[in-house]
Amino acid sequence: MKGLILSGGTGTRLRPITYTSAKQLVPVANKPILFYAIETIQDAGITDIGIVIGDTGEEVKAAVGDGDRWGVKVTYIEQESPLGLAHAVKIAHDFIEDDDFVMYLGDNLVKEGINGLVKEFKQTNCNCQILLSHVKDPQRFGVAELSNGKVIGLVEKPKEPKSDLALVGVYMFDKSIFEAVNAIKPSRRNELEITDAIQYLIDKRYVVHPHIIDGWWKDTGKLEDLLEANRIMLELIDERIDGNVDDKTQVLGKVIVEKGAVIKESIIRGPAIIGYNSEIVNSYVGPFTSIHDNVKIKESEVEHSIILADCLINDIGSRIEDTLLGRNVKVHKSDTKPKAYRLMVGDNSEIEVI
Ligand code: G1P
Repeated sequence: MKGLILSGGTGTRLRPITYTSAKQLVPVANKPILFYAIETIQDAGITDIGIVIGDTGEEVKAAVGDGDRWGVKVTYIEQESPLGLAHAVKIAHDFIEDDDFVMYLGDNLVKEGINGLVKEFKQTNCNCQILLSHVKDPQRFGVAELSNGKVIGLVEKPKEPKSDLALVGVYMFDKSIFEAVNAIKPSRRNELEITDAIQYLIDKRYVVHPHIIDGWWKDTGKLEDLLEANRIMLELIDERIDGNVDDKTQVLGKVIVEKGAVIKESIIRGPAIIGYNSEIVNSYVGPFTSIHDNVKIKESEVEHSIILADCLINDIGSRIEDTLLGRNVKVHKSDTKPKAYRLMVGDNSEIEVI
């Protein structure tokens, strides 16, 4: 069995972060989301992994490399434009050959992994296994309609969903999917939809087996979901202090302080992670906060946020919360007159002031 991770797409809902970075490389608990996908697939015993890349391909290649780090072999497959998930399957045919494979959307996180699911796929001897999850907002996903435990219909982002069962971005296929992706036509958004390809399998009487997961799953496409993913993953960390924490600092709960990090006269309330060579001085870092590498936080309070590498937060009068700061962002107090907010912010950013 092979693995196919999709790591293209534009990440419009995470702009401006995704103007300069792949959405799958945004870190959750200081680890790129994509790495969780690789680890999950590796954990299921699959070591031959194809990664479909798009415009951000070079960055993905630089971060992942040849897969050696995880003991897997990574093959990159270039998709010239984001023409849909089924299109990605189509162009991956040479890599997959006629093997069974698991397709994993690189911005999805499935907390308990896919080990058992891969076993179930093999045991049921089906042509395709889909994972479904009950959600509050099915309109945002592919939605399945079941009858007597069988999938009878699938619709991509329906206005009037027939159920609350969303398609999770993890699918298992045998070679029949190649017949399907070659037969379907582009959707209204001009993409070859995997949902339509699976509907084709149903219509042609191939066996599509649904598995409803009850564990935690997230498509990290938007900020709110990313912060939730960060919360869930931080809860799983094992505390470890490899950096330098002074006597006047209080570290409470599960906290990771990476090597080279320096914390002085501060309160760190976990779960939280402070990245390599970061410096926290006279500050408060609250629960569910991931501070990446080389960040400086001085005289400030940050909670429930993701702060990417090389940021500076200095002398902010109020607490920063529910925030995602891109790389190398500076937020600091200014004594320059006249007293005013001075902003230099990229397109599609959002700032809430008090
Ligand atoms: C894609 C699929 C959708 C699925 C979702 C899961 O949506 O098309 O069926 O429910 O992933 O993350 P997209 O992320 O392309 O909007």
